[in-house]
Amino acid sequence: MAGGAGTRLWPLSRTQFPKQFLSLTSEDTLFQDTLLRVSSKSYKDPIIVCNEEHRFLVAEQLRKKSLCHCGIILEPSGKNTAPAIALAALHAMHSDPDSILLVLAADHYIEDVDVFNETVGRALSLVDSGKMVTFGIFPTAPETGYGYIKSGVAIDSAFSVESFVEKPGREQAKLYLSHGGYFWNSGIFLFKASKYIEELDKYCPEVLAACSLALKNSRQDLDFIRVDSNSFDDSPNISIDYAVMERTKDAVVMPLGVNWNDVGSWSALWEIGQKDLSQNVIRGDVLHENTSGCYINASNRLVATVGLTDIIVVETRDAVLVADKKQVQEVKLIVNKLQKFD
Ligand code: GDD
Ligand code: MG
Repeated sequence: MAGGAGTRLWPLSRTQFPKQFLSLTSEDTLFQDTLLRVSSKSYKDPIIVCNEEHRFLVAEQLRKKSLCHCGIILEPSGKNTAPAIALAALHAMHSDPDSILLVLAADHYIEDVDVFNETVGRALSLVDSGKMVTFGIFPTAPETGYGYIKSGVAIDSAFSVESFVEKPGREQAKLYLSHGGYFWNSGIFLFKASKYIEELDKYCPEVLAACSLALKNSRQDLDFIRVDSNSFDDSPNISIDYAVMERTKDAVVMPLGVNWNDVGSWSALWEIGQKDLSQNVIRGDVLHENTSGCYINASNRLVATVGLTDIIVVETRDAVLVADKKQVQEVKLIVNKLQKFD
């Protein structure tokens, strides 16, 4: 899934160039890292679902990593993850009705790739028995940007899902943390493509109807599959979490013991970044004095700082962001204002 906007990483992440296509955590982009993570022979060729505006970005980034065998499905507009996964599931079932989908977000950071792949391998037996696996991360803070999963009884090396709460408020999240037995939903799923379609038909048939028609009326354009925009427009805009995962009776949560981050904000990049002795994460041409706990990213010009603590500075050709590290979620308010000026 590579169709998100990544607004909280403005000014580097832009509508034309969203965060999944930036190199933020390694030499490669988040999108490339995601594909490289599953490039072993255990996996079939990936299916990419993205916005049609980004097709050349996607094709170029695939070419650079010799990942040219992917199916690329183009959405005429972003309708969130439930329709995107429906398109991929229907496409996969077309060539193999028994396909199993590992659903990945194109913008996640995962440190321990071997542990990740080993955990996915262990989850396969659950999928065979008709379960929908979601991978759970051990929570470390009352984050409000994640879904929370309350685990129930043990099933193999996973747990049944007692409840699934998408993005609770802070007080609720604090309760979950102190209570224990809750996981963050990583937004990574494993299930049979046919199981997803079955559950979507049960709980959100409008999405399935629109996506089936959009794919049926799609057309091949070079390496891209362009879905029919009239049919796709009829799909509700809804995430897999609300459409299926909160409702299905077959969800299980498999603990994923890796250092994971959804790279949602500048403070997340500070957290996972390589720090200097003063706990600064520095990218690009930067000079600093008496500066600590900062994330400073210079793309075009020299950036110099004196006497800053816990501040984010991101310099690009046409915009500079200076923000308190504790308030970086609000960067999206700036983006909203900019969109109003457009
Ligand atoms: N193709 C496509 N089309 N991809 C999309 C679309 C779309 O319309 N919308 C989002 N995506 C992609 C994003 O690029 C991202 O890779 C992934 O789908 C998840 O979407 P987000 O918008 O980033 O979701 P979220 O982070 O708010 O919430 C989800 O992920 C969290 C973990 O990162 C939920 O599943 C939460 O429960 C979960 O905790
Ligand atoms: Mg996300």
